Amino acid sequence: MSTQREPQVVRGLEGIYVATTELSRVDGENGRLYYRGYDIHDLVKYGDFEETVFLLWYGHLPTESEYDAFRKRLINYRFLPENLIKMLPLLPQGTIPITAIRTFLSALAAWDPWAEDNSRDAELENAARLTAGIASLLAKVQRVRTGQEIVEPRLDLDHASNFLYMFTGKEPSTEASAAMNAFLILYADHGFNASTFTARVTASTLSDMYSAIVAALGALKGPLHGGAMEAAMRQFIEIGHPENVDAWFEKALAQKRRIMGIGHRVYKTWDPRARILRERARVLAEKSSEPQWFEIAERLAERALNHPYFQERRLFPNVDYYGALVVYYLGIPPELYTIMFALSRVAGWAAHVIEQHADNRLMRPRALYVGPEHREYVPREKRT
Ligand code: ACO
Repeated sequence: MSTQREPQVVRGLEGIYVATTELSRVDGENGRLYYRGYDIHDLVKYGDFEETVFLLWYGHLPTESEYDAFRKRLINYRFLPENLIKMLPLLPQGTIPITAIRTFLSALAAWDPWAEDNSRDAELENAARLTAGIASLLAKVQRVRTGQEIVEPRLDLDHASNFLYMFTGKEPSTEASAAMNAFLILYADHGFNASTFTARVTASTLSDMYSAIVAALGALKGPLHGGAMEAAMRQFIEIGHPENVDAWFEKALAQKRRIMGIGHRVYKTWDPRARILRERARVLAEKSSEPQWFEIAERLAERALNHPYFQERRLFPNVDYYGALVVYYLGIPPELYTIMFALSRVAGWAAHVIEQHADNRLMRPRALYVGPEHREYVPREKRT
């Protein structure tokens, strides 16, 4: 009798632990999320995106002087290489924004003297260049593709406000800056989701940070991962008016259509990020000329939360449900929502690359071969 265990195939790696991490802890049963032990509620309430990024990369919250120095480093990297900016209009009209960003983010490596250096110090520098760079790239790419003048970065604004300034050409309101900061903090890291895992697999070959992050962006692009925020907003737009919610909901149920922005693989209660972004969306909606999108979302969520179908399956609004509204009210069009996700998650991906390289083991799982065995080779002229 063979003592070898039958190989088990776990499709989608569901429930498999492939590494340890000190970056984020997702408590799906209780609806809590911690970055390096800090509750996200506290990080949003008291801090900003820069502080969260510092925490993820360095392992502790910055002192005043560490914070100032870190902020200055990110500000330096808001300025993209001149020749890279000249490349922005060269892609064909109609190139989808995430394809453009993936291309230019990859190109940025060519101007980075430490791009091939996987030492911790070099990677912390590369991470800063990538995190600041993707925000400048998105703002610039959008202005070029919509035929507007590029807006140069401001040195006096924080990362979130400067992005909105470069994107819209106007200094954001206090509420808009706070909402953007909350959005960026809340999307920064979330365990071993598909794109983070992709980054870590790439890093595990001792490839460089740029390659890992471009690979992660490719994984994020898929509709099963980063595409839900855009789909949620398009669904609110399709509903059109709060009075249409009830009929739309009944029809969706009858057609077994999924409500985008509801349900989560890990959270079986409210996604804590959704609750925070809901309040930010409420504030922005009150000041907006289009409050109906928030009203539609609220009414739809209420219908779902009170319906036995959703209650039995423990389906609650997730981060993308209210994240979509926040970015909509910040003036970002839906075709950019997947990159908005990346604008924040790039910091988490970078932290994971650093963590992977600090204690590397090549990720090399196996596939169970189920194809034909022992086939006889027939020369081409004899094949029928
Ligand atoms: N609307 C209606 N029914 C749903 C929904 C939904 N949004 N989500 C799950 N269900 C139902 C399924 O049809 C299934 O029903 P059944 O048991 O009768 O077959 C049951 O709930 C369980 O669904 P699964 O797909 O097995 O649950 P899973 O944990 O794999 O799915 C997922 C999680 C993919 C997020 C799912 O809830 C979904 O598709 N939601 C909509 C898309 C979305 O919002 N994605 C963003 C996730 S958050 C993020 O990526 C940042």
